[in-house]
Amino acid sequence: MRALRAMFTTVLLVVAGLAARGEDGYEAWLRYRPIDDPARLEYCRTYCREIVISSPSREWDAATRELVRGLSGLLDRRVAVLGAPTQSGAVILLVKRSDLSLLSVDERERVRIAEGFIILSTQVEGKSVTVISAETQRGLLYGVFHFLRLVATGEPLEGLSISQQPAMPLRMINHWDNLNGVVERGYAGRSIFRWDQLPIGDSRYTDYARMLASVGINAIAVNNVNAAVEVLRSDMLEKAAVLAEHFREYGITLYLSVNFASPMRLGGLSTADPADPAVQGWWKAKAAEIYRLIPDFGGFLVKANSEGQPGPLDYGRTHAEGANMLGRALAPHGGSVIWRAFVYNPRMADRAMESYREFAPLDGRFDANVAVQIKNGPIDFQIREPVHPLFGQLARTNTVLELQITQEYTGRSTHLVYLVPTWKEVLDFDTYTAGRGTTVSRVIAGRVFPYRICGMAGVSNVGQERNWTGHHFAAANLYGYGRLAWDPELSAESIAEEWARLTWGNDPVVVRTVVDMLLPSAAIYEKYTSPLGVGVLCNGNHYDPRPASREYFHHADGLGVGFDRTRRSGSGYTQQYHAVNTRRFDSRATCPEELLLFFHHVPYTYRLKSGKTVIQHIYDTHYEGVEEARGLLEKWLALEGRVNPQRHREVRLRLEAQIAHAEKWREEING
Ligand code: GCU
Repeated sequence: MRALRAMFTTVLLVVAGLAARGEDGYEAWLRYRPIDDPARLEYCRTYCREIVISSPSREWDAATRELVRGLSGLLDRRVAVLGAPTQSGAVILLVKRSDLSLLSVDERERVRIAEGFIILSTQVEGKSVTVISAETQRGLLYGVFHFLRLVATGEPLEGLSISQQPAMPLRMINHWDNLNGVVERGYAGRSIFRWDQLPIGDSRYTDYARMLASVGINAIAVNNVNAAVEVLRSDMLEKAAVLAEHFREYGITLYLSVNFASPMRLGGLSTADPADPAVQGWWKAKAAEIYRLIPDFGGFLVKANSEGQPGPLDYGRTHAEGANMLGRALAPHGGSVIWRAFVYNPRMADRAMESYREFAPLDGRFDANVAVQIKNGPIDFQIREPVHPLFGQLARTNTVLELQITQEYTGRSTHLVYLVPTWKEVLDFDTYTAGRGTTVSRVIAGRVFPYRICGMAGVSNVGQERNWTGHHFAAANLYGYGRLAWDPELSAESIAEEWARLTWGNDPVVVRTVVDMLLPSAAIYEKYTSPLGVGVLCNGNHYDPRPASREYFHHADGLGVGFDRTRRSGSGYTQQYHAVNTRRFDSRATCPEELLLFFHHVPYTYRLKSGKTVIQHIYDTHYEGVEEARGLLEKWLALEGRVNPQRHREVRLRLEAQIAHAEKWREEING
């Protein structure tokens, strides 16, 4: 019996040991592992002795719970929640206007920010405390997550005087998840949304909401833009209401993607013409039904007259007429319509031109509760393409930027590609439309034109994989997307470092290495898949090389390569930009070299600034790219023993697969 007990104990110990070592990535950047440096641990404990919530109510529950969870984990001891501070070192959540009397007049002034927060080191009732304060549920959550980030990443906790607010009002995630669980362009397993199980909830929804809120996301569309009409069926709406509840707790508003033909296919009407009163009535009734179930419903995301989807153009109406009809159904309830501008005609000589052509003339014709959501570039989420010409040209149309977090054309979840630097380039692009400095980021933040709805939407890379994103490093893109939407001024490097510390711990060698892997990774991928902006060279799966099938994009012939989009000899696409950019792109001399083949058809012997010919450059970059991908693996191997073994192994396997696939690209192109 004693032997049996001893054996049982051993087994338990082994299991416990495995659990401690076997971190699987589920906690992503919200790991809250005990701080391992004793001096730092002691320091943090001094500043976080107790948590005080001035006016407890359900509204602040999630923030309070997170603070308890985070601090208890990081400080390796339970931190009590009290109603008033009993000692110096309390962290106080001040949430009610009346409670603010505890602060000085100056300090109080700083709290007037809708979704923002302040974090102050101050004195309350004679005690030195840290105050986290906000006006709204969201603000308080963001403040708490920010404070936890400071603790977890080794930042000072004394003398704090932080006040932040999000740069843009809409910080949204779009899921391309079908109701049957298959995710379009998803590489991390099936959908996390279990419509077959709903309305039964799932703790995974809450953990996902926590992750999103921790980086400031405040809106989510949970189903594919290629929308099934069934999502608007009454039983499905009841399920959606349960999702909305999970997200609401974390300040995230639910949207649904809808199919423009729903009145016909679901409602049995003979038309979906937006001018038809019966159609309008159907949408109005549907909106009312939704708001009965989800009082804070955000609205509809719509892909119309794009890639075979139905839309107003089917009835001779414009995008604006279609969008406004939906907008008017939602308006009485405070909802909005996000109408996508991703339209093209595959038979056009230059499909890059279509979106601008259809939408630019409609500026000013969309209702106030309608926004147009525009992909970052005119083609389709390539590793390199110019910024979409519509940005900055819709002075009277709410504008949202759409980015793709899921790596459809950028290596799925096999290739390590940190997309933040590429997004930064988009955000920093100067459209010149309202003078120098009319950057995309200022436009979508509503700082150039008086937009009511504006911001960013990112196509999710999350699925049912235990670590959410498949590749552990792909989580850096989800993290970085949120951080950039909060503050586009953050550098790609600082975001990478934060993520590295939160995800892999504060060992300086690990942090340096992870950052050094992330930062050049997009450029590496570009080298072996699409140098000089040559564009789509993959096959229909958007992953494997097949340049022979992509003549439409690269225009390679016996003498040269590249798509002439210039004004004088090409498609004229360059004219869709403001004149400053038209001139820059039109001339080979001033066109950024990384976009040369997007805008120009040049002989293979054309000399680049490096002195190399185009053909030599293409050849060399494929070799360099593969070598640099090998370098990523080498860096990672050096971390063995410094990061937990399970995640180390999983990343190693993906890096090995990346190298093999990069070689495949090189062989296909270089022959
Ligand atoms: C791309 C992608 C599609 C997606 C479409 C869209 O073309 O390959 O899967 O539906 O974009 O953004 O609507």
